[in-house]
Amino acid sequence: MVYGLGEALKNLNSYCQERTTRIRNSLSPSRPSMSEATATGSSSSSRASTTIPSTPNMDVTPTVEDPRQNDNNASGMTRDEFRQYGKETVDYIVDYLENIQKRRVVPAIEPGYLKDLIPSEAPNTPESFESVMEDFEKLIMPGITHWQHPRFHAYFPAGNSFPSIIADMLSDAIGCVGFSWAACPAMTELELIMLDWFGKMIGLPAEFLPLTENGKGGGVIQSSASECNFVTLLAARFEVMKELRQRFPFVEEGLLLSKLIAYCSKEAHSSVEKACMIGMVKLRILETDSKFRLRGDTLRNAIQEDRNLGLIPFFVSTTLGTTSCCSFDVLSEIGPICKENELWLHVDAAYSGSAFICPEFRPLMNGIEYAMSFNTNPNKWLLINFDCSTMWVRDRFKLTQALVVDPLYLQHSWMDKSIDYRHWGIPLSRRFRSLKLWFVIRMYGIDGLQKYIREHVRLAKKMETLLRADAKFEIVNEVIMGLVCFRMKGDDELNQTLLTRLNASGRIHMVPASLGDRFVIRFCVCAENATDKDIEVAYEIIAQATQHVLHDSVKAVIAEEDEEAVALEEMVADLNITETPEKCLTRQNSANAAESGQKLERQLSKEEILAQKQHESLAKKRYTPQPLDLALAPDSDPELSPCSPQILVS
Ligand SMILES: Cc1ncc(COP(=O)(O)O)c(C=O)c1O
Repeated sequence: MVYGLGEALKNLNSYCQERTTRIRNSLSPSRPSMSEATATGSSSSSRASTTIPSTPNMDVTPTVEDPRQNDNNASGMTRDEFRQYGKETVDYIVDYLENIQKRRVVPAIEPGYLKDLIPSEAPNTPESFESVMEDFEKLIMPGITHWQHPRFHAYFPAGNSFPSIIADMLSDAIGCVGFSWAACPAMTELELIMLDWFGKMIGLPAEFLPLTENGKGGGVIQSSASECNFVTLLAARFEVMKELRQRFPFVEEGLLLSKLIAYCSKEAHSSVEKACMIGMVKLRILETDSKFRLRGDTLRNAIQEDRNLGLIPFFVSTTLGTTSCCSFDVLSEIGPICKENELWLHVDAAYSGSAFICPEFRPLMNGIEYAMSFNTNPNKWLLINFDCSTMWVRDRFKLTQALVVDPLYLQHSWMDKSIDYRHWGIPLSRRFRSLKLWFVIRMYGIDGLQKYIREHVRLAKKMETLLRADAKFEIVNEVIMGLVCFRMKGDDELNQTLLTRLNASGRIHMVPASLGDRFVIRFCVCAENATDKDIEVAYEIIAQATQHVLHDSVKAVIAEEDEEAVALEEMVADLNITETPEKCLTRQNSANAAESGQKLERQLSKEEILAQKQHESLAKKRYTPQPLDLALAPDSDPELSPCSPQILVS
């Protein structure tokens, strides 16, 4: 049936009225409400007025046509269309992942490429699914960096697996916003159970686990490790400020805040620095040892120096598996110092935490018993799609006290018996993220996940062996997990040229890091089903590009590499490559591919130089101890002058 907008709105109105009546009818007195059905003692009259509605009676047959079933374009997509297009999209996804190696890893486009390809105004009239999908492939795909590509070795893995994708589809379909138990009971309860399962899987002490009897601990899924670092800092800050307010009731709060100081190592993730910046506390960035680990003595000395200056140490953010080189701070030394000094010890294991499902890696966690909080991202190294960053605390009250705000409209009648995750983080709205953990853990089993982790570690060791056997390279980190940091023997500039050239080729993608003030290239095993062959091909690509750099054949190399790319990819799979849309687009948009490759090379080079500069400027903000005459030494009279939050590097 085809009808106009007025007709459609009329239809929608009567549909809404009918639906309201239907739901009202379904709440019949003979049917117990969910709150009554699950009540365990306390009477509902003593609870807040909001209760969970019963499940609508599904037997009631709709008497009005559902407008989404109408042949009406205003509805976006009918159910029948969704059935068809949904299945087609699943096919598209499988084909994409199956053939991903035919694409460049990084796109051959420049900033602003999309602006000229997409109309400047949104369409007034509906467009078909086919035309949207066509443009997706033609316009969007060419601008995609393919994180699931077998030659993607940048950053850390972006978790991805079929069970996880399906769980996310279901989560999207359910479309809940589970900020409280009442807002979606299953979401809260599954999250609790998954945090218990996963916490046990990685060997966390029982005090952290949400379901430990009479335990004070708890777990939550945040959307990122950065958020975990931030909320734990807030919790620690709240706790110390509570105590300081009691001890110095007449001192301005801002003044007390200005005396707080947190610590992390030089290799800690930048999100720790950001957390301190937003949290308005000083951060002292500490030197590491020759293996890029924060050691106990370094921390102890820093605490002592800062106390002498009247500062108040309160928080230490340690890292198990640093971003730059996957080093492991020595928790067994740091933990007792935090305990002695009553500092909140946080452990950020964003990448490597998932590896602790393999018992052989757990010694790296020794000292975890001193931690107040711990986080790891299954969305990095446990095949879970973004976002899913798990975090545990030893004392859940110490976290929630820093974050509770409780307006009436968010209260419900089960608050005394349930967890409301809205008090555990910053956003109110929360997705059903535990569903993908549940699907993945069940469908791979712990055995399958252990195999996956061990295989990545084995392949990283293989790359290490290949590079070590080649006199042109040196290995800079201790290869413990899936990350190899290497460099060509030679200066930083040479290494930067090598990386720029590799990335510009579109055949492989890696990012740099600065270790001991030297430019290194990070090679991380990322693809779920990475093979020995993938590592060999990656090594070949790196070795050949290194030869080019060494022989300074800068000009000719990009054109040559296209031929090499085909030859090397053929080693991996017998591909029947037709012209890919991105190649087509590149052809349309640039006079010649080599020129565009050279432009990309220049652009990446600038970015890298900028990153280097930023790093250097941070390192230059040297710690210059200023005697604080009026400093807040624990027993001194606090006549204090405020000092602004700052980064201290020592
Ligand atoms: C140790 C560490 N912490 C924090 C982060 C930030 O992770 P997210 O992107 O989840 O905020 C990373 C990212 O790689 C990391 O390696």
